[in-house]
Order: sequence, then C-alpha cells, then structure tokens
Amino acid sequence: ASTAATSVSISGDIGSQLHAGYSHPLARSWQAERQLTKSMLIYPLFISDQDDEEVPIPSLPNQCRRGLNRLIPFLEPLVRKGLRSVILFGVPMQPGTKDALGSSADDPNGPVIRSIRLLRQRFPHLYIVCDVCLCEYTSHGHCGILREDGSLNNQLSVDRISDVAVAYARAGAHCVAPSDMNDGRIRAIKLKLIEAGLVHNVTLMSYAAKFSGCLYGPFRDAAGSAPSFGDRRCYQLPPGGRGLARRAIVRDINEGADIIMVKPAGQYLDIIADAKELGRDLPIAAYQVSGEFAMIHAAAKAGVFDLKSMAFESTESILRAGATIIISYFVPEFLDWLDS
Ligand code: PBG
Ligand code: ZN
Repeated sequence: ASTAATSVSISGDIGSQLHAGYSHPLARSWQAERQLTKSMLIYPLFISDQDDEEVPIPSLPNQCRRGLNRLIPFLEPLVRKGLRSVILFGVPMQPGTKDALGSSADDPNGPVIRSIRLLRQRFPHLYIVCDVCLCEYTSHGHCGILREDGSLNNQLSVDRISDVAVAYARAGAHCVAPSDMNDGRIRAIKLKLIEAGLVHNVTLMSYAAKFSGCLYGPFRDAAGSAPSFGDRRCYQLPPGGRGLARRAIVRDINEGADIIMVKPAGQYLDIIADAKELGRDLPIAAYQVSGEFAMIHAAAKAGVFDLKSMAFESTESILRAGATIIISYFVPEFLDWLDS
C-alpha cells in the first residue's frame, strides 16, 4: 500500500512539470494549433473615385484612401513580399454620386469594378475579395434601402445587394463578401451566381456574425459611410447576442456561404470559437476591425506595450479561437515581420 501511495505522488509531481514543453522558441511555437502564415492574411483597401489621390486617414494609422492610379505602385512591393489577398472598399467622393438606392455601387466606371479589372490584369495571382454593401453609396449611409419611415426594406435591399455582388463577380472578383446583414442575402446572392454561371468559381464569404458597436468609427471616416441618422442596431447584432450569432452562422451556412466571417475579432473570440464549431467544415475568417487596430496603435503610442508584440499577440489569439483567415490592417507589417 505504501508503494502505491509513493507512485501516485511521483506521477503527480511528473504531471505538474510543464516547462519542458515550451522552453525552446520552436517548442513554444508547436503549442499553437495554427501558425500565422502570409496566406491567411487579407488586406483592406479603400479605393476612391479620385484616380490620383492618396490621402491618409487620420483615425486609421498608416492607412490611406487611394485612387486607381495609386494602387499598382502601392501594391507592387507588397505583392513581392508575399501579399496574397486584398478586400476592396469603394469610396465615392465625387458630389452627386450617392442616392437613396446606392445606385453607384455597381457603376461599371466606379472605383471597385475598375480596380477589380486592373488588379486582375496586373497581379494575376492576387486573390480579390470585394466587400458588398450599400452604405458607402447611399445618401443616408445605411446598409440597405429604406422605407419612408426610415426603417430597412429587407426585400429591396437584398435584391439590390445581390445584383451588386453579381456585378463584382462578373468584373472578376474571386470572392464577394456581403457586409450588410440583411436577412436572406446569402441565399439571394448564391442563386444569382448560379443563374449567372459564376457559382463554380466565385467564393461567397458571409459577414455572418457582425456585431454593432463603436469599433467601426475609423472605417466610417475612411469610407465616408457613417449613417446620417440613427444607427445600425436593427441589422447588426447586439454585442451580448451570442445565441443570435450562432443562429446567423448556421443560417448562412445553410444558405450557401463558403466562408463564415466574425467581426470584430478581439472582443468576440467566443464567437469565433462558436463559428469554428458550427462551421467546422468551412474556413472561418475574422476581421480585426478599424477600431481594434486604432486602439492597438494608440496604446502602443502611449507606451502601454510594443506595437509589434501586440500585433502578434492579438492575431495569435484570433487564430487560437479558431480563425483560419484574418482580415487586418497590419498585413503590410506582417509581410515584413513574418520573414524575420
Ligand atoms: C460596411 C462595412 C463596415 C466595415 C466593413 N464593411 C462598416 C460598418 O458596418 O459600419 C467595418 C470594417 C472596419 O471597421 O474596419 N458595411
Ligand atoms: Zn454597410
């Protein structure tokens, strides 16, 4: 009996020794299920209709709004360093381009469609994602078409948004990503892609779990897409709504989404884990949004932590939660950092 007691206590001691598994930097990296690689990264681009402009966005450090003529020189070095994918956001600046229906979203001479063509031609290996929404193009700044009382008309919005998605796909986008959060848009887009004969080679990435809140402010500065009245709480999810997010994820998988996205990322790691569980057969994307990026920059500037260390720490947490694709404003830095 005394021998048994001894062996229990020894095995207890042995089981408590964890340091050996991560004493070496390489062994530490083996503790993660997923390693950050360049091919996981998608870089957001704001493309304006002022072809020659390159304007820094004050609330979004190191990021610019660019016209078509600035795109290639900017991207060339990044592609050389291993940039694999971008997500495009159109920013109409010209007066008179916005209306109640967001008519200019799929203008063949608008910034998005022209840049899809240009990028496909100049960077044949770059994977082009297009954000699909109306808020950049509507006079009221909401993500859909409104009724007279200001409420969202879901059916008209879905009809319009699915047309815009197909226009981007026709122009050559590899992936369309509706961010509007109208009900039923994934199914509507999938059906129109089938009808257009594009369903076999255009990926449909759903912003399925997109939460409302105050983390999109710098983006709205960049894109000029802040709503002129009200807010987005009727269509974006309430921050506490984990169950709603799970329902939206399951719904969008059933409607034909090829990739599920969670957004924001850092404050919603539980939702990323849920998406991974519910969508274990799909790639899961996470968007580290403008407000998260701006906070990290502000804190680094205030001396709270080192920028690079936090960029890695926040990204590794997103991977740990279950994401396999990360949309991030840190992509240009990561292309350098991942080499060294
Ligand atoms: C457009 C859209 C937004 C973002 C992505 N697509 C803004 C919003 O919904 O208000 C936010 C991205 C970011 O903050 O970086 N619907
Ligand atoms: Zn929108």
